[in-house]
Amino acid sequence: MRITIFGATGRTGHLLVRRALDAGHTVTAYARNPGRLSITHPALSVVAGGMDDDAAIVRAVQDAEAVIEGVGSVSDGTRRIIAAMEKTGVRRLVVVSTCSVPDPGDRPDAKFAALARFVRTVAPKPYREVRRAAELVRVADLDWTLVRVAKLNDRPAGGDVKVGHYGHGVLSLSTSRADLAAFLLGQVTDRTYLRQAPAISS
Ligand SMILES: NC(=O)c1ccc[n+]([C@@H]2O[C@H](COP(=O)([O-])OP(=O)(O)OC[C@H]3O[C@@H](n4cnc5c(N)ncnc54)[C@H](OP(=O)(O)O)[C@@H]3O)[C@@H](O)[C@H]2O)c1
Repeated sequence: MRITIFGATGRTGHLLVRRALDAGHTVTAYARNPGRLSITHPALSVVAGGMDDDAAIVRAVQDAEAVIEGVGSVSDGTRRIIAAMEKTGVRRLVVVSTCSVPDPGDRPDAKFAALARFVRTVAPKPYREVRRAAELVRVADLDWTLVRVAKLNDRPAGGDVKVGHYGHGVLSLSTSRADLAAFLLGQVTDRTYLRQAPAISS
């Protein structure tokens, strides 16, 4: 498949680009700093641009069959990606989100609520941005999935990703970026969580 990845130069982004290429996909990496992408491959191309560059975002998504976004707290960028996809007819959007974003399937859970409260207190802008991004994704006329994680780490992929909702006793606070990358890539072809916001952990 042809996959466009926003946040490709990040830690999860690198793992995701590598995994997508290894799986035989054709990847377009969108990057404000293309020099930070340490992967070269015949099936990898790069579109340079910031999250405020409508024209570059359209160029990056127009030939894609799926888009994965792991930039984080730049809701205006998410809005632009959605607009570009709606304009060019690309349907599948997978977005990394956080436990600061609630879902009707969640039940009260002290540890995730404490983390969300902490983020809201120490990083109010990212907290607001990630919630706004989720709201924009939820109302988009796209085949979207929001993938919610709590704390990321750099451990190797465990291969046993837990998927569910907070408060059901299934999920831990920690997710390895390798597990997240694997789950994100899987969503490109898996329609189980279409128009849903599953939470995952390692
Ligand atoms: N860290 C955590 O514990 C945690 C928890 C929950 C959710 N998440 C989310 O998980 C995802 C992956 O996290 P990570 O820690 O692996 O990512 P990361 O290493 O911090 O990389 C973030 C990526 O987003 C890009 N980016 C950030 N701000 C940007 C901006 N204003 N304009 C354009 N590009 C921007 C970065 O580009 P540059 O390389 O140019 O900087 C990089 O490619 C993110 O969406 C993050 O919000 C993280």
